[in-house]
Amino acid sequence: MRLRHAPRRSLHHLPHPAPGWPLRPSRRTALLAVVLGALSCVLAAAPGGAAHAAAPGAAASGAATPLTVRIGFVAPLSGEYADYGHDLQNGVQLALDEANAQGVKIGDQTAHFELVSIDDRADPRLGVQAAARLSNQDVAAVVGHFNSGTAIPASRIYESAGIPMIDPAATNPVITSQGFANVFTVISNDAQNAGMAGAWAVDVLKARRIAIVDDRSAFGQGEADVFERTVKAHGGTVVAREFAAGDSGDVVDFGPQLAHIKAADADLLYFGGLARQAAALVRQLKARSMSAQFVGGGGVAIPEFVRLAGQAGEGALAWEYGRPLAQLPDGPRFEQRFKSRFGADVLAYAPFGYDAAWAAIHAMAAAKSANPDAWRGTLRTLSFGGVTGRIAFDEQGALRNGASTLYQVKQGAWVPVMTRGG
Ligand code: ALA
Repeated sequence: MRLRHAPRRSLHHLPHPAPGWPLRPSRRTALLAVVLGALSCVLAAAPGGAAHAAAPGAAASGAATPLTVRIGFVAPLSGEYADYGHDLQNGVQLALDEANAQGVKIGDQTAHFELVSIDDRADPRLGVQAAARLSNQDVAAVVGHFNSGTAIPASRIYESAGIPMIDPAATNPVITSQGFANVFTVISNDAQNAGMAGAWAVDVLKARRIAIVDDRSAFGQGEADVFERTVKAHGGTVVAREFAAGDSGDVVDFGPQLAHIKAADADLLYFGGLARQAAALVRQLKARSMSAQFVGGGGVAIPEFVRLAGQAGEGALAWEYGRPLAQLPDGPRFEQRFKSRFGADVLAYAPFGYDAAWAAIHAMAAAKSANPDAWRGTLRTLSFGGVTGRIAFDEQGALRNGASTLYQVKQGAWVPVMTRGG
Protein backbone atom coordinates (compact mmCIF):
# COMPACT_ATOMS: atom_id res chain seq x y z
CA MET A 1 0.00 0.00 0.00
CA ARG A 2 2.80 2.42 0.76
CA LEU A 3 3.92 2.19 -2.88
CA ARG A 4 0.88 4.28 -3.81
CA HIS A 5 2.22 7.23 -1.85
CA ALA A 6 5.27 9.42 -2.01
CA PRO A 7 8.00 8.36 0.44
CA ARG A 8 7.10 9.31 3.99
CA ARG A 9 8.90 12.31 5.43
CA SER A 10 9.07 12.26 9.22
CA LEU A 11 6.91 14.93 10.85
CA HIS A 12 8.60 14.60 14.20
CA HIS A 13 11.08 17.38 13.46
CA LEU A 14 9.35 20.73 13.85
CA PRO A 15 10.15 23.28 11.15
CA HIS A 16 9.76 27.01 11.76
CA PRO A 17 6.92 28.75 9.94
CA ALA A 18 7.79 31.20 7.17
CA PRO A 19 7.86 34.87 8.24
CA GLY A 20 4.34 36.28 8.19
CA TRP A 21 2.65 32.90 8.63
CA PRO A 22 -0.25 32.35 9.04
CA LEU A 23 -2.03 33.83 6.06
CA ARG A 24 -5.75 33.63 6.67
CA PRO A 25 -7.55 32.33 3.60
CA SER A 26 -10.08 30.18 5.33
CA ARG A 27 -11.09 31.75 8.59
CA ARG A 28 -14.59 32.68 7.44
CA THR A 29 -15.25 29.30 5.91
CA ALA A 30 -14.02 27.54 9.00
CA LEU A 31 -16.13 29.64 11.33
CA LEU A 32 -19.27 29.07 9.29
CA ALA A 33 -18.63 25.34 9.32
CA VAL A 34 -18.26 25.13 13.07
CA VAL A 35 -21.33 27.25 13.64
CA LEU A 36 -23.44 24.97 11.47
CA GLY A 37 -21.90 21.81 12.89
CA ALA A 38 -22.38 22.76 16.51
CA LEU A 39 -25.92 24.00 16.05
CA SER A 40 -27.11 20.40 16.00
CA CYS A 41 -25.50 19.91 19.41
CA VAL A 42 -27.23 23.02 20.70
CA LEU A 43 -30.60 21.80 19.54
CA ALA A 44 -30.00 18.39 21.06
CA ALA A 45 -29.09 19.88 24.43
CA ALA A 46 -31.44 22.85 24.47
CA PRO A 47 -33.74 23.35 27.42
CA GLY A 48 -37.38 22.53 26.84
CA GLY A 49 -38.90 25.28 28.91
CA ALA A 50 -38.67 29.01 29.18
CA ALA A 51 -35.97 30.63 31.27
CA HIS A 52 -36.78 32.31 34.53
CA ALA A 53 -36.73 36.05 34.90
CA ALA A 54 -33.84 37.25 37.02
CA ALA A 55 -33.98 39.55 39.93
CA PRO A 56 -31.41 42.27 39.32
CA GLY A 57 -27.93 41.53 40.49
CA ALA A 58 -27.27 42.46 44.06
CA ALA A 59 -28.72 43.08 47.43
CA ALA A 60 -28.24 46.83 47.54
CA SER A 61 -28.98 48.76 50.69
CA GLY A 62 -28.12 52.09 52.25
CA ALA A 63 -25.14 54.19 51.19
CA ALA A 64 -22.78 53.24 54.03
CA THR A 65 -23.54 49.53 54.22
CA PRO A 66 -21.50 47.02 52.21
CA LEU A 67 -23.08 45.78 49.01
CA THR A 68 -23.22 42.01 48.72
CA VAL A 69 -22.69 40.93 45.12
CA ARG A 70 -23.23 37.26 44.30
CA ILE A 71 -21.26 35.85 41.38
CA GLY A 72 -22.47 32.55 39.95
CA PHE A 73 -20.03 29.90 38.82
CA VAL A 74 -20.80 26.66 36.96
CA ALA A 75 -18.37 23.92 35.90
CA PRO A 76 -17.84 20.21 36.45
CA LEU A 77 -16.82 19.89 40.11
CA SER A 78 -17.22 16.12 40.11
CA GLY A 79 -16.72 13.45 37.47
CA GLU A 80 -14.14 13.14 34.72
CA TYR A 81 -13.55 16.87 34.24
CA ALA A 82 -13.62 17.92 37.90
CA ASP A 83 -9.94 18.91 37.96
CA TYR A 84 -10.51 21.52 35.26
CA GLY A 85 -13.58 22.78 37.15
CA HIS A 86 -11.85 23.14 40.53
CA ASP A 87 -8.94 24.92 38.85
CA LEU A 88 -11.31 27.40 37.24
CA GLN A 89 -13.29 27.87 40.46
CA ASN A 90 -10.08 28.68 42.32
CA GLY A 91 -9.22 31.29 39.70
CA VAL A 92 -12.61 32.96 40.18
CA GLN A 93 -12.37 32.71 43.98
CA LEU A 94 -8.93 34.35 43.94
CA ALA A 95 -10.31 37.31 41.98
CA LEU A 96 -13.20 37.73 44.42
CA ASP A 97 -10.87 37.45 47.43
CA GLU A 98 -8.56 40.11 46.01
CA ALA A 99 -11.45 42.42 45.10
CA ASN A 100 -12.83 42.03 48.63
CA ALA A 101 -9.40 42.73 50.14
CA GLN A 102 -9.01 45.84 47.97
CA GLY A 103 -12.42 47.18 49.02
CA VAL A 104 -13.68 47.68 45.46
CA LYS A 105 -16.41 50.34 45.40
CA ILE A 106 -19.62 50.07 43.43
CA GLY A 107 -21.05 53.56 43.58
CA ASP A 108 -20.60 54.76 47.13
CA GLN A 109 -20.74 51.28 48.64
CA THR A 110 -17.91 48.87 49.29
CA ALA A 111 -18.69 45.64 47.51
CA HIS A 112 -18.46 42.22 49.11
CA PHE A 113 -18.31 39.55 46.40
CA GLU A 114 -19.64 36.07 47.16
CA LEU A 115 -19.22 32.99 44.99
CA VAL A 116 -22.26 30.78 44.30
CA SER A 117 -20.92 27.55 42.75
CA ILE A 118 -22.87 24.80 41.04
CA ASP A 119 -21.52 21.50 39.71
CA ASP A 120 -22.87 20.66 36.24
CA ARG A 121 -20.74 17.50 35.83
CA ALA A 122 -20.18 18.58 32.20
CA ASP A 123 -23.72 17.38 31.49
CA PRO A 124 -25.85 19.70 29.30
CA ARG A 125 -29.02 18.84 31.21
CA LEU A 126 -27.40 19.68 34.55
CA GLY A 127 -25.86 22.78 32.98
CA VAL A 128 -29.28 24.05 31.97
CA GLN A 129 -30.67 23.27 35.42
CA ALA A 130 -27.76 25.14 37.01
CA ALA A 131 -28.43 28.15 34.79
CA ALA A 132 -32.10 28.14 35.76
CA ARG A 133 -31.19 27.91 39.47
CA LEU A 134 -28.72 30.78 39.23
CA SER A 135 -31.28 32.87 37.40
CA ASN A 136 -33.45 32.60 40.53
CA GLN A 137 -30.65 33.23 43.00
CA ASP A 138 -30.08 36.94 42.56
CA VAL A 139 -26.63 36.61 41.00
CA ALA A 140 -25.17 39.67 39.30
CA ALA A 141 -23.08 37.67 36.81
CA VAL A 142 -22.13 34.10 35.97
CA VAL A 143 -18.61 32.91 35.24
CA GLY A 144 -18.89 29.61 33.35
CA HIS A 145 -19.54 27.09 32.03
CA PHE A 146 -16.47 24.93 31.37
CA ASN A 147 -17.73 22.76 28.50
CA SER A 148 -19.14 24.10 25.25
CA GLY A 149 -21.81 21.40 25.43
CA THR A 150 -23.20 22.95 28.63
CA ALA A 151 -22.29 26.58 27.90
CA ILE A 152 -24.26 26.78 24.65
CA PRO A 153 -27.68 25.73 25.98
CA ALA A 154 -27.09 27.52 29.31
CA SER A 155 -26.30 30.77 27.50
CA ARG A 156 -29.90 30.92 26.29
CA ILE A 157 -31.15 30.84 29.86
CA TYR A 158 -28.85 33.65 30.99
CA GLU A 159 -29.83 35.67 27.93
CA SER A 160 -33.53 35.31 28.78
CA ALA A 161 -32.79 36.18 32.40
CA GLY A 162 -30.68 39.20 31.47
CA ILE A 163 -27.67 37.93 33.45
CA PRO A 164 -24.22 38.45 31.90
CA MET A 165 -22.40 35.14 31.39
CA ILE A 166 -18.63 35.55 31.05
CA ASP A 167 -17.13 32.29 29.86
CA PRO A 168 -13.52 31.49 30.76
CA ALA A 169 -13.11 28.07 29.13
CA ALA A 170 -15.78 27.01 26.66
CA THR A 171 -14.41 27.66 23.20
CA ASN A 172 -16.94 26.66 20.56
CA PRO A 173 -17.50 29.89 18.58
CA VAL A 174 -21.25 29.30 18.60
CA ILE A 175 -21.25 30.62 22.18
CA THR A 176 -20.72 34.19 21.02
CA SER A 177 -22.25 33.96 17.54
CA GLN A 178 -25.86 33.60 18.71
CA GLY A 179 -26.44 37.36 18.79
CA PHE A 180 -26.87 37.43 22.59
CA ALA A 181 -26.34 40.69 24.48
CA ASN A 182 -25.30 38.93 27.71
CA VAL A 183 -22.68 36.44 26.53
CA PHE A 184 -18.92 37.09 26.60
CA THR A 185 -15.77 34.96 26.41
CA VAL A 186 -12.31 35.85 27.77
CA ILE A 187 -10.56 32.97 25.99
CA SER A 188 -9.78 32.62 22.29
CA ASN A 189 -12.09 30.22 20.51
CA ASP A 190 -11.76 27.18 18.27
CA ALA A 191 -12.27 29.08 15.03
CA GLN A 192 -8.86 30.47 15.93
CA ASN A 193 -7.21 27.61 17.81
CA ALA A 194 -8.23 24.65 15.65
CA GLY A 195 -7.95 26.85 12.55
CA MET A 196 -4.35 27.64 13.49
CA ALA A 197 -3.70 23.93 14.04
CA GLY A 198 -5.06 23.04 10.60
CA ALA A 199 -3.16 25.75 8.74
CA TRP A 200 0.06 24.89 10.58
CA ALA A 201 -0.26 21.16 9.88
CA VAL A 202 -0.39 21.81 6.13
CA ASP A 203 1.66 24.97 5.64
CA VAL A 204 4.45 24.43 8.15
CA LEU A 205 4.63 20.78 9.15
CA LYS A 206 3.77 19.74 5.55
CA ALA A 207 1.60 16.84 6.65
CA ARG A 208 0.34 15.04 3.58
CA ARG A 209 -2.13 12.48 4.90
CA ILE A 210 -4.11 13.80 7.83
CA ALA A 211 -6.43 11.83 10.10
CA ILE A 212 -8.90 13.37 12.55
CA VAL A 213 -10.61 11.88 15.61
CA ASP A 214 -13.04 13.69 17.90
CA ASP A 215 -14.93 12.84 21.06
CA ARG A 216 -18.36 13.86 19.65
CA SER A 217 -18.76 16.62 22.25
CA ALA A 218 -19.86 20.09 21.08
CA PHE A 219 -16.29 21.11 21.83
CA GLY A 220 -14.33 18.23 20.26
CA GLN A 221 -16.51 17.92 17.19
CA GLY A 222 -16.42 21.69 16.73
CA GLU A 223 -12.61 21.68 16.88
CA ALA A 224 -12.40 18.77 14.45
CA ASP A 225 -14.76 20.46 11.98
CA VAL A 226 -12.73 23.67 11.95
CA PHE A 227 -9.49 21.73 11.67
CA GLU A 228 -10.77 19.67 8.73
CA ARG A 229 -12.13 22.69 6.84
CA THR A 230 -8.90 24.58 7.36
CA VAL A 231 -6.72 21.69 6.27
CA LYS A 232 -8.74 21.42 3.07
CA ALA A 233 -8.74 25.17 2.48
CA HIS A 234 -4.95 25.09 2.71
CA GLY A 235 -4.70 22.28 0.18
CA GLY A 236 -4.19 19.41 2.63
CA THR A 237 -5.71 15.94 2.40
CA VAL A 238 -7.85 14.36 5.10
CA VAL A 239 -7.56 10.60 4.74
CA ALA A 240 -9.70 9.62 7.74
CA ARG A 241 -12.33 11.33 9.89
CA GLU A 242 -13.29 9.27 12.92
CA PHE A 243 -15.01 9.76 16.24
CA ALA A 244 -15.34 7.85 19.47
CA ALA A 245 -17.61 9.00 22.27
CA GLY A 246 -17.17 7.63 25.77
CA ASP A 247 -19.36 7.92 28.80
CA SER A 248 -17.94 10.07 31.54
CA GLY A 249 -15.09 8.25 33.24
CA ASP A 250 -14.60 5.70 30.46
CA VAL A 251 -11.28 5.33 28.72
CA VAL A 252 -12.35 4.85 25.15
CA ASP A 253 -11.15 1.96 22.99
CA PHE A 254 -9.95 3.65 19.80
CA GLY A 255 -9.10 0.31 18.17
CA PRO A 256 -11.52 0.47 15.21
CA GLN A 257 -10.67 4.11 14.51
CA LEU A 258 -6.93 3.49 14.65
CA ALA A 259 -7.30 0.50 12.35
CA HIS A 260 -8.85 2.80 9.71
CA ILE A 261 -6.19 5.42 10.26
CA LYS A 262 -3.41 2.87 9.96
CA ALA A 263 -4.92 1.54 6.74
CA ALA A 264 -5.13 5.10 5.42
CA ASP A 265 -1.41 5.55 6.14
CA ALA A 266 -1.89 8.87 7.92
CA ASP A 267 1.19 10.91 8.81
CA LEU A 268 -0.60 13.24 11.27
CA LEU A 269 -3.44 12.57 13.72
CA TYR A 270 -5.44 15.50 15.12
CA PHE A 271 -7.67 14.93 18.15
CA GLY A 272 -10.63 17.11 19.17
CA GLY A 273 -11.31 16.42 22.84
CA LEU A 274 -9.75 16.73 26.29
CA ALA A 275 -6.60 15.38 27.94
CA ARG A 276 -7.71 12.03 29.36
CA GLN A 277 -9.02 10.70 26.06
CA ALA A 278 -6.11 12.28 24.20
CA ALA A 279 -3.70 10.32 26.41
CA ALA A 280 -5.62 7.08 25.80
CA LEU A 281 -5.52 7.71 22.05
CA VAL A 282 -1.77 8.33 22.07
CA ARG A 283 -1.10 5.20 24.08
CA GLN A 284 -3.16 3.11 21.69
CA LEU A 285 -1.50 4.79 18.70
CA LYS A 286 1.95 3.90 19.94
CA ALA A 287 0.87 0.39 20.98
CA ARG A 288 0.08 -0.23 17.29
CA SER A 289 3.53 1.03 16.29
CA MET A 290 1.96 3.86 14.31
CA SER A 291 4.23 6.80 13.57
CA ALA A 292 1.62 9.49 12.79
CA GLN A 293 2.44 12.73 14.58
CA PHE A 294 -0.16 13.35 17.30
CA VAL A 295 -1.59 16.90 17.50
CA GLY A 296 -4.16 17.81 20.15
CA GLY A 297 -6.49 20.79 20.36
CA GLY A 298 -7.25 22.85 23.46
CA GLY A 299 -7.40 21.26 26.90
CA VAL A 300 -4.78 18.59 26.12
CA ALA A 301 -1.57 20.36 27.21
CA ILE A 302 -1.91 19.65 30.93
CA PRO A 303 0.24 17.44 33.17
CA GLU A 304 -2.44 14.74 33.36
CA PHE A 305 -1.89 13.98 29.68
CA VAL A 306 1.80 13.34 30.32
CA ARG A 307 1.06 11.24 33.41
CA LEU A 308 -1.52 9.09 31.64
CA ALA A 309 0.27 8.81 28.29
CA GLY A 310 3.67 7.98 29.79
CA GLN A 311 6.43 7.42 27.28
CA ALA A 312 3.86 7.27 24.45
CA GLY A 313 3.19 10.97 25.01
CA GLU A 314 6.76 12.05 24.25
CA GLY A 315 6.80 14.32 21.18
CA ALA A 316 3.03 14.90 21.23
CA LEU A 317 1.92 18.36 20.13
CA ALA A 318 -1.09 20.42 21.26
CA TRP A 319 -2.51 23.86 20.48
CA GLU A 320 -3.63 25.70 23.58
CA TYR A 321 -5.47 29.01 24.09
CA GLY A 322 -3.55 32.12 25.04
CA ARG A 323 0.10 32.71 25.88
CA PRO A 324 2.18 30.65 28.30
CA LEU A 325 1.58 32.00 31.80
CA ALA A 326 5.31 32.26 32.49
CA GLN A 327 5.66 34.69 29.57
CA LEU A 328 2.90 37.05 30.72
CA PRO A 329 3.76 40.12 32.83
CA ASP A 330 1.66 39.09 35.85
CA GLY A 331 1.78 35.34 35.11
CA PRO A 332 4.47 34.25 37.59
CA ARG A 333 3.02 36.43 40.38
CA PHE A 334 -0.42 34.99 39.66
CA GLU A 335 0.99 31.46 39.93
CA GLN A 336 2.54 32.31 43.32
CA ARG A 337 -0.63 33.90 44.71
CA PHE A 338 -2.68 30.95 43.44
CA LYS A 339 -0.34 28.40 45.00
CA SER A 340 -0.17 30.14 48.34
CA ARG A 341 -3.98 30.49 48.49
CA PHE A 342 -4.95 26.97 47.33
CA GLY A 343 -1.80 24.89 47.83
CA ALA A 344 -2.03 23.73 44.23
CA ASP A 345 -0.47 24.69 40.92
CA VAL A 346 -2.51 26.25 38.14
CA LEU A 347 -3.79 23.35 36.04
CA ALA A 348 -5.28 24.97 32.94
CA TYR A 349 -7.87 27.75 32.79
CA ALA A 350 -7.70 29.30 36.28
CA PRO A 351 -6.14 32.52 34.90
CA PHE A 352 -9.07 32.87 32.48
CA GLY A 353 -11.50 32.33 35.38
CA TYR A 354 -9.67 35.06 37.29
CA ASP A 355 -9.86 37.46 34.33
CA ALA A 356 -13.54 36.65 33.70
CA ALA A 357 -14.40 37.50 37.32
CA TRP A 358 -12.39 40.73 37.15
CA ALA A 359 -14.17 41.68 33.90
CA ALA A 360 -17.44 41.60 35.83
CA ILE A 361 -15.95 43.45 38.83
CA HIS A 362 -14.37 46.18 36.70
CA ALA A 363 -17.56 46.68 34.70
CA MET A 364 -19.73 46.95 37.81
CA ALA A 365 -17.31 49.37 39.44
CA ALA A 366 -17.18 51.51 36.28
CA ALA A 367 -20.97 51.49 35.93
CA LYS A 368 -21.38 52.17 39.68
CA SER A 369 -24.02 49.44 39.77
CA ALA A 370 -24.32 45.68 40.20
CA ASN A 371 -27.57 45.63 38.27
CA PRO A 372 -26.87 43.90 34.93
CA ASP A 373 -29.15 46.35 33.11
CA ALA A 374 -26.76 49.08 34.18
CA TRP A 375 -23.36 47.39 33.84
CA ARG A 376 -23.84 45.13 30.79
CA GLY A 377 -23.12 48.03 28.44
CA THR A 378 -19.94 48.86 30.34
CA LEU A 379 -18.71 45.32 29.81
CA ARG A 380 -19.02 45.86 26.06
CA THR A 381 -16.58 48.76 26.08
CA LEU A 382 -14.31 47.46 28.84
CA SER A 383 -10.57 47.11 28.24
CA PHE A 384 -8.14 46.08 30.98
CA GLY A 385 -4.85 44.24 31.39
CA GLY A 386 -5.72 40.79 32.73
CA VAL A 387 -3.38 38.00 33.78
CA THR A 388 -3.95 36.35 30.39
CA GLY A 389 -3.46 39.56 28.39
CA ARG A 390 -5.69 42.46 27.38
CA ILE A 391 -9.35 41.75 27.97
CA ALA A 392 -11.69 43.52 25.56
CA PHE A 393 -14.63 42.17 23.60
CA ASP A 394 -15.73 42.40 19.99
CA GLU A 395 -19.28 43.26 18.97
CA GLN A 396 -20.37 39.65 19.57
CA GLY A 397 -18.81 39.44 23.04
CA ALA A 398 -15.84 37.30 21.93
CA LEU A 399 -12.34 38.13 23.19
CA ARG A 400 -10.50 40.49 20.85
CA ASN A 401 -7.04 39.43 19.72
CA GLY A 402 -6.89 35.99 21.31
CA ALA A 403 -3.68 33.98 21.03
CA SER A 404 -2.86 30.31 20.45
CA THR A 405 0.29 28.53 21.58
CA LEU A 406 1.72 25.30 20.23
CA TYR A 407 3.22 23.03 22.93
CA GLN A 408 5.20 19.82 22.68
CA VAL A 409 5.95 17.13 25.27
CA LYS A 410 9.71 17.06 25.79
CA GLN A 411 11.22 14.84 28.47
CA GLY A 412 7.90 14.45 30.22
CA ALA A 413 6.78 18.09 30.27
CA TRP A 414 4.80 20.38 27.99
CA VAL A 415 7.11 23.01 26.49
CA PRO A 416 5.90 26.02 24.48
CA VAL A 417 7.05 25.97 20.85
CA MET A 418 5.52 29.16 19.47
CA THR A 419 2.60 31.55 19.95
CA ARG A 420 0.48 33.16 17.25
CA GLY A 421 -2.03 35.99 17.64
CA GLY A 422 -2.70 38.00 20.79
N1 ALA B 1 -12.66 24.31 25.69
C1 ALA B 1 -13.44 23.20 26.16
C2 ALA B 1 -14.87 23.29 25.74
O1 ALA B 1 -15.22 24.20 25.08
C3 ALA B 1 -13.28 23.03 27.62
O2 ALA B 1 -15.65 22.42 26.04
